[in-house]
Amino acid sequence: MTAPSFDRSIKIAPSILAADFADFGREIQAVEAHGADWIHVDVMDGHFVPNLTFGPAMCKAIRPHIKTVMDVHLMIAPVDPYIDAFADAGADILTAHVEAGPHIHRTLQAIRGAGMKAGVALNPGTPTESVEYLMDMIDLICVMTVNPGFGGQKFIHSQIDKVKELRAMIGDRPIHIEIDGGIDPSTAPLMAAAGADALVAGSAVFKGGSVINPAPYGENIRAIRAAAEAAR
Ligand code: DX5
Ligand code: ZN
Repeated sequence: MTAPSFDRSIKIAPSILAADFADFGREIQAVEAHGADWIHVDVMDGHFVPNLTFGPAMCKAIRPHIKTVMDVHLMIAPVDPYIDAFADAGADILTAHVEAGPHIHRTLQAIRGAGMKAGVALNPGTPTESVEYLMDMIDLICVMTVNPGFGGQKFIHSQIDKVKELRAMIGDRPIHIEIDGGIDPSTAPLMAAAGADALVAGSAVFKGGSVINPAPYGENIRAIRAAAEAAR
């Protein structure tokens, strides 16, 4: 397991939700070879969100293919019964939604207790106050810039102010701000300027390429990174 070291440089995290589900291993190798900093893994349960993907067994199977950081985004409720399984699967960062249950504080304690970095995700309708008393127990805040459940949705601009508020709340603490949903070269700069450092992108990374033609993955990642870095 590679523990991510903290810095605020721009990190591009391709979401494998937009990859070929029959070929995750080679898709991960391709995006990492073409500049991905983290690999974002979307776990959905058909209950917390209206879509299903996969669980800890799939995460464990793809883990050996990830040389960077395995960034697991749980869109499931409840979370707590599965924390040990995701630790065993090799997740570096495990992110739970603040809306997933009444005891997010306990959930975050359990994630760190299981040896992972702890992330908390906020749906677009959830205010920043919901994480105010969690600041000293988290390593990442994921701001959803779409309603979670599906790739390829339109970026919600009201979340720019949320990122600015969170950036001020974080101060000097070593907490990443991650953005998830609708990120491309036109929206990435808005979020980088507001204070985000980890940019998840599914459609905008995987479009136009494949494991046998991975060059577009590199072009897409470079375009998002260049746009974000220029806005800082
Ligand atoms: C949505 C997921 C995202 C998704 C983003 O619920 O959490 O990670 O893959 O996809 P794009 O980049 O296509 O909006
Ligand atoms: Zn995600």
